[in-house]
Amino acid sequence: MLNFSFKNSTQIHFGEGQISQLRDAIPAKARVLVTYGGGSIKQNGVYDQVAEALSGHAWFEFSGIEPNPNYDTLIGALNLIREHKIDFLLAVGGGSVIDGSKFIAAAARFEGDAWDIIAKRAPVTAALPLGCVLTLPATGSESNSGAVITRDGNKLPFMSPLVQPAFAVLDPAVTLSLSDRQISNGVVDAFVHTMEQYLTYPVNAKVQDRFAEGLLLTLIEEGPKALAAESKDDLEVRSNIMWSATLALNGLIGAGVPQDWATHMIGHELTGAYGIDHARTLSIVLPAVMKVKKEAKREKLLQYAERVWQLTDGDADSRIERAIELTEQFFSNMQVPTRLSQVELGDEAIDLLIGKLTEHGMTALGEQNDISADVSRRILQAAL
Ligand code: NZQ
Ligand code: ZN
Repeated sequence: MLNFSFKNSTQIHFGEGQISQLRDAIPAKARVLVTYGGGSIKQNGVYDQVAEALSGHAWFEFSGIEPNPNYDTLIGALNLIREHKIDFLLAVGGGSVIDGSKFIAAAARFEGDAWDIIAKRAPVTAALPLGCVLTLPATGSESNSGAVITRDGNKLPFMSPLVQPAFAVLDPAVTLSLSDRQISNGVVDAFVHTMEQYLTYPVNAKVQDRFAEGLLLTLIEEGPKALAAESKDDLEVRSNIMWSATLALNGLIGAGVPQDWATHMIGHELTGAYGIDHARTLSIVLPAVMKVKKEAKREKLLQYAERVWQLTDGDADSRIERAIELTEQFFSNMQVPTRLSQVELGDEAIDLLIGKLTEHGMTALGEQNDISADVSRRILQAAL
């Protein structure tokens, strides 16, 4: 196992009705800015539950944070924060609202041009405290310190312990209003987060491996149920998916193991350039990464084949091939694409994507830093 320091300070309030916890989770004297997206929370009753829980607080609101949150939108919150002397943010939404609110939290206390936090990796030395109500299980943003922000087609990450949410309310009932597309996206995003901290090379990290395998098995079992007519309203299914997605990216399974975020970094370019949903970029790129990096990932691929897909017969190469096929089949069952051609992209897109990866310094990706621009090109070709 590799050395690590692990801390996750986000308090989780899990279960039906837990939005009422906001009353005590936010300091009574706080001046709160509730941030949200395009209005789904007004249709599914979440906004009303939040308003009720905050009835004793001074609170204001900022809406319109779009999927793949945009710098130009987010910066609009800063005036409100100054005007109303806001000292606490409450993000109510999916990964985009939470990520966007993390950027607002840091930008509100940043001296100088806030875009430097992303573009120049300028250190964040202060941020507004932040809590969240998660409405879409997918990103893990509700209990991690990362965020991904877009500006002019450039989609870039930043991290700071100062934007780690103080608490996250996870009520699986609020996910019942999700469209099939967003359910699929969430399950696939969580699956790929798990894979990227698992499918590298063995370091004898038994607990991390078995936690990761448990999450993968749960998502494979429960994901399709959340799409099937007879089980889509089952709160047990939604609960298992929701908790899996949080655990997939809260630092636990990634502590002490090598990690390979190549799929995400290549995927971000696909979203930045073509607007493809985050998870749908991952379902296209991950199988291609598995194919191109088959030799380097051989031992973990065999472990994955055996423990996740119960493949024990046949020679090693055919078990690996089959495990990759079954991964693609799982994505297809979850109704997400596994090829660039399924999102109407061909060879001509690859030069642009490689140019963007190079421009963003993403030329030494993977657990061995050996996914150069040329290797990424081979990955994208394998995804055609
Ligand atoms: O804006 P509203 O109206 O709320 O609608 C949203 C949005 O259109 C809707 N939605 C959310 N909860 C709903 C709902 N609709 C009905 N009922 C509900 N309960 O879903 C749509 C998509 O929301 P979004 O927040 O964009 O989705 P997701 O949670 O998948 O977040 C994706 C973003 O997170 C970033 C991605 O890059 C992308 O920008 N990521 C953040 C990470 C992190 N911070 O750790 C890691 C991830 O890998 C990812 O990169
Ligand atoms: Zn993701």
